[in-house]
Amino acid sequence: MVKIWSDAQIKTLRAQLLDWYDRMGRALPWRVRPEDRAKGQMPDPYAVWLSEIMLQQTTVPHAAPYWEKFLREFPKVTDLAQADREQVMVMWAGLGYYARARNLYKCGQVIADDYGGVFPQSEAELLRLPGIGPYTAAAIAGICFDEPTVVVDGNVERVISRMACVDVPLPKGKKEIKAVAAQIADPKRSGDYSQALMDLGATVCTPRSPKCHICVWADFCTAHKRGEEERYPKKLKKKPLPKRCGVVFVLRGAGHVLLRQRPDEGLLGGMVDFPGTEWTNSPPDSMLNYAPHSADWARAPQQVVHVFTHFELTLDIYTADVGDLDVLKMAASKADDLFIEAEAKLKTLALPSVMQKVWRSVLG
Ligand code: ADE
Repeated sequence: MVKIWSDAQIKTLRAQLLDWYDRMGRALPWRVRPEDRAKGQMPDPYAVWLSEIMLQQTTVPHAAPYWEKFLREFPKVTDLAQADREQVMVMWAGLGYYARARNLYKCGQVIADDYGGVFPQSEAELLRLPGIGPYTAAAIAGICFDEPTVVVDGNVERVISRMACVDVPLPKGKKEIKAVAAQIADPKRSGDYSQALMDLGATVCTPRSPKCHICVWADFCTAHKRGEEERYPKKLKKKPLPKRCGVVFVLRGAGHVLLRQRPDEGLLGGMVDFPGTEWTNSPPDSMLNYAPHSADWARAPQQVVHVFTHFELTLDIYTADVGDLDVLKMAASKADDLFIEAEAKLKTLALPSVMQKVWRSVLG
């Protein structure tokens, strides 16, 4: 890999970014500000781990209330490890990517059981834990222990690919981006540097209309010099997501509703949904063959559309109100995975986002 900047330039880049972070870095609840770090205060790896797992799938404003709820309920990793997995899934509901929640719980147990409740400190050791991949291991080791790691998330990919005009499209280009990022990473204030770079990507070097006029790296940025910021990072054209469809049945009666516990493994594993058909490429032939009980089913006027990582789902919703708890009980007795719950208690269940949408649509 050719060196893009001289040693003196790299020194300047580091100093400029860290100086910007000292003044402008975001105050995030799991973060220790640079002035406190300088006094020797370091972040709690458990709190940082939780934030990093949550932030892999959503933005800071969406994740922050979940993070606060988790820390309130489980102040230490050993509290999380002792919780019921069901409770963890309920608390995660709405964040999506439920395999992450299952791995989070598993990882908490490994740390409690095998590490005496103390997070390992090195990137290499962290990588061995369930649900901790290269990004999370580098982030925790850097942010919590100042190990000189190279942290590359989507924000960093954008900043670095613009700085160096990396023309290999993602995902292949990630290797080159990481190599360039490694050239400039600050080995001394590693944690602050990584967080600074992510903040720069999130707040200044944004995907659209980057604020180059206030960027401390603008003078060194190749894409900026060429006026081509928005052409980076280059990405392979994504194929359109395949479409799947299905039907869900919302059977109500006397303030209760019929629900289904999904199996532990697979998509939405361990979560709760409304009974329904498989999700397939073409609509089911006769939906009534799949209804959990005979009732006067009415098709809701609105479909629900939800985008998963690998497909887009359109659900038809059928509703029926049997007005009677006994009928619901009878329906629930037909299969082991069915159960009934008071409508008022739905929010205490691990209802994934797609099923929350279904329920909101039913309530109109
Ligand atoms: N996005 C994900 N993790 C982050 C962090 N530690 N700092 C800033 N932005 C982030």
